[in-house]
Amino acid sequence: MTKQLIKNIKCLINTGNATESLRGKELALLSCIEDAYLIISDGIISELGEMKNLNTNSFHDFNDTTDARGQFVMPTWCDSHTHIVFAGSREDEFIDKLKGLSYAEIAAKGGGILNSARKLSDTDEETLTKQALNRIIELVKLGTGAIEIKSGYGLTVEAELKMLRVIKQLKKLSPIPIKSTFLAAHTYPESYKDNHKGYIDLIINEMLPIIAKESLADYIDVFCETGFFSPQEMETICLAGKKYGLKSKVHVNQLNSIGGLQKAIELNALSADHLETMNEEDIKVLAASNCIGTLLPSAAFFLRMPYQPARAMIDKNCAIALASDYNPGSSPSGNMNTVVALSCIQMKMLPEEAVNAATINGAFAMELENEVGSIAVGKRANLIFTKPIPSLAYLPYSFGTNLIDKVMIDGKIIA
Ligand code: NIG
Ligand code: FE
Repeated sequence: MTKQLIKNIKCLINTGNATESLRGKELALLSCIEDAYLIISDGIISELGEMKNLNTNSFHDFNDTTDARGQFVMPTWCDSHTHIVFAGSREDEFIDKLKGLSYAEIAAKGGGILNSARKLSDTDEETLTKQALNRIIELVKLGTGAIEIKSGYGLTVEAELKMLRVIKQLKKLSPIPIKSTFLAAHTYPESYKDNHKGYIDLIINEMLPIIAKESLADYIDVFCETGFFSPQEMETICLAGKKYGLKSKVHVNQLNSIGGLQKAIELNALSADHLETMNEEDIKVLAASNCIGTLLPSAAFFLRMPYQPARAMIDKNCAIALASDYNPGSSPSGNMNTVVALSCIQMKMLPEEAVNAATINGAFAMELENEVGSIAVGKRANLIFTKPIPSLAYLPYSFGTNLIDKVMIDGKIIA
């Protein structure tokens, strides 16, 4: 057995062992053990506490010892919403947006998701896997220690399955746990533009049975939005997914409030994601449910949209997670440190709330709460070591500065 000691930790952050996602006032409660130690056995956290309680007679037991003087040690980020399997980039559309076109206008002229779908269909599985794995490695260096990845740039039977097989391959190759989400209902492909029922039938009758047979997905997602999928269409697709054991994690209330959130809650969705456009009733309904509201502030930032009303949502007792939405159209960055900083700076979340939302609640939004999301005995030693910092608030306050000294995954230093 390999036994590692991390000693003299200035502050060991988030040692909670929550059994449910945190909501409302609970989000601001973030534990911190000052002058702490942590013991890792074969990559799993096995003991932690204050330095004064460390049994010094056991020092010879350790294969290696790390001194974390001045450093904060925190759980790695749990990014519960990404689209990191994609081909090429879309900075040409970014320029169109700078010149005044809206996201919806770009989509309407064949750009957006359809543009990424064309690029993806020209790229083979091996290249897609290599590129996505590189993105994961970059993200791990930025502190991400678990991630969800969606399909949705395929939009044909063949290309959706290709994306999901890439994600399945990534699960084997990646150092961090991955959850896979089936998102063929991202937009209507050109050939089904006027035949919505035909495309939904294709998803239900052609794609889902193969996905189930090959265990290619953990969840099902739909982009419920004006001009994309209606709440009723989302219901049809999610109920079909449910028959194969896929819970829903859905895109709702990004550009318009059209009843998507209410439908997601009716469908018992694990999470409802985006939520830039929320009225009072939406917030109330979310607060009364078990559904996790996953906020994606970097998408709001990049699309220059109003931010998610995080403050009102937390004050009304919602369960909130933060994720990056990393994708080539609305959030070409997967940096969770930026996401956390934006949530504080632009949405007035407290640093403690943001860290909880980006760690343990992100883990709940991927059903990985028993493995990651906090520093607790029995969980993976997926840890961020900060550079010496004066306080937790210094992280979002110093936005844009890389304050990560190193990242450990399963007890091994990655960066
Ligand atoms: O989560 N809103 C829908 N889907 C993605 C964007 C996809 C794209 O533009 O490529 C999102 O923001
Ligand atoms: Fe998304």
